[in-house]
Amino acid sequence: MTEHAVAHADQLEDDRALRVKAGDEELIVLRHNGQVRAYQADCPHAGAPLEQGAICENRLICPWHKAAFALNDGEVTEPPALASLRRYPAQVRDNYLWVDDQPSTAPVPAPQAEGRTFIVAGAGAAGAAAVASLHRQGFAGQLVWVDQEAEPAYDRTALSKFVIAGKKTAAEVPPLLDDEVLAWPNLQRVRATVTAIDTAQQRITLDDGQQLTYDAALLATGGVPQRPAVEGAQLPGSFLLRSRDDAARILEQVRGSQRAVIVGDSFIGLEAASALRQAGLHVRVVSRHETPLTEQLGDQVSLALRQFHERNGVVFHTGTEPVSLEGPGRVETVTLKNGERLEADLVLFGTGVKPATPLAQGLALADDQSLIVDGGMRAAPGLWAVGDMVNFPLAGHPSRIEHWRVAQQQGCLAAENMLGAQREYADVPFFWTLQHGKTLEVLGHARAWNGVEVVGDVDAMNFVALLCVDEQVESVVACGHRALLATLSQRMKRPLSRHEARALINS
Ligand SMILES: Cc1cc2nc3c(=O)[nH]c(=O)nc-3n(C[C@H](O)[C@H](O)[C@H](O)COP(=O)(O)OP(=O)(O)OC[C@H]3O[C@@H](n4cnc5c(N)ncnc54)[C@H](O)[C@@H]3O)c2cc1C
Ligand code: FES
Repeated sequence: MTEHAVAHADQLEDDRALRVKAGDEELIVLRHNGQVRAYQADCPHAGAPLEQGAICENRLICPWHKAAFALNDGEVTEPPALASLRRYPAQVRDNYLWVDDQPSTAPVPAPQAEGRTFIVAGAGAAGAAAVASLHRQGFAGQLVWVDQEAEPAYDRTALSKFVIAGKKTAAEVPPLLDDEVLAWPNLQRVRATVTAIDTAQQRITLDDGQQLTYDAALLATGGVPQRPAVEGAQLPGSFLLRSRDDAARILEQVRGSQRAVIVGDSFIGLEAASALRQAGLHVRVVSRHETPLTEQLGDQVSLALRQFHERNGVVFHTGTEPVSLEGPGRVETVTLKNGERLEADLVLFGTGVKPATPLAQGLALADDQSLIVDGGMRAAPGLWAVGDMVNFPLAGHPSRIEHWRVAQQQGCLAAENMLGAQREYADVPFFWTLQHGKTLEVLGHARAWNGVEVVGDVDAMNFVALLCVDEQVESVVACGHRALLATLSQRMKRPLSRHEARALINS
């Protein structure tokens, strides 16, 4: 271990992270409440430079996807990061900040729930977050983690942004958990499909007939993308996108294709349109709406997003939908309700997801078949459920939200509750999407609004839009303001007025 003088003490400002180097280690240093701290500089999730993030409510927040870390000790408090920051011993001496180039030993949590058996069904965003959280909290019983995929627990969000654009192979998509968690002796990974749950007996049945009893179980089986019920929707050359295998199949088709038709202007549909343009294809988007995602973004941003796609070569066919896909043996044409016929080598459906809940027989389901849970994500005694498959109370309103970070927040929360905590979901939903090189971010979950205030230039995709009910901000949509949204991801846990939002934008 060697100590390095990494900065003059005058360079340290309260609550502002500074990137420095100690030997070969890239670090951030900061002063908070009079204490100096040094942490790894790059976010453990996807490597964002943490000095470009925000400090708010005693948290350091990552600029990219808003993972939060306690300022005091670097502990991860909100995903998508699933590991805490490495901390390095630091002190001010002789007017310099001195930092060791070897991290401090992480504290070992007290063992919890010894002798108990927990099951996590589903190894996507939410399931992986729950497993990481149980590991961090010192779960000392047996943890059985079931998933139907061959190699689950990977970053699904990369599939529509990078894999189908040909920028990464499906095998290169990063895993969600680090080797330490995957090699955890208490963890048993099982490849199987969960087919039934007996909540009275606390027992889960797998497709090979095996039955597993649990003290606590978590369902995190996500959603199943849907093909529209039109003639020819199953023809070869037409695809859904959810898994790594789906993305690999699409990429194979992209390589021999020139014309793609995307059905649906969902986030997946739009990301796919962007990715396939980058792969050099002619891309048409067919949608019922004139402009995409109006219900999430508001009219002005929605229109600007459509025009942004058009400037990047995407052609929209709006106010219509496919009535059939045709071709001898594989899809060659998509016929629309308005009579248009579009030639296609590849068709991708971005037409929505159904919750993966057939296994939850006997439990309360909402109209869309999502599993109803309470604010602590509990579905039945000893049984929790999280992520895309659930309907949960958000500020008192039954909600189903298909966002990566929400699924992971809920996975962490359920893991704590499985260990005896009594937490309820009180976080701020966050969604990001990457289209034609721009990251659009959405914070909050507005159901309705009666005022929209836009700061910046929507057409240049550099703006912040506040979706408000009277004077209160319900949701923030932004492009090019990642540090501001990092601050707001914490600040919006309490009601935020337009006035304060404006002050934060201008600060
Ligand atoms: C291509 C793509 C890109 C996306 N990009 C973004 C983005 O940029 N930002 C964002 O916020 N959100 C994004 N999303 C949405 C986000 O991925 C989901 O909200 C999130 O994955 C939900 O997590 P989950 O754990 O509920 O489900 P999943 O991540 O889908 O995990 C469910 C797991 O359960 C397994 N499973 C299902 N049924 C069973 C069963 N019966 N038995 C055993 N295992 C089962 C599945 O194989 C899967 O591994 C994207 C989604 C897709 C498909
Ligand atoms: S890179 Fe930090 S949360 Fe994703």
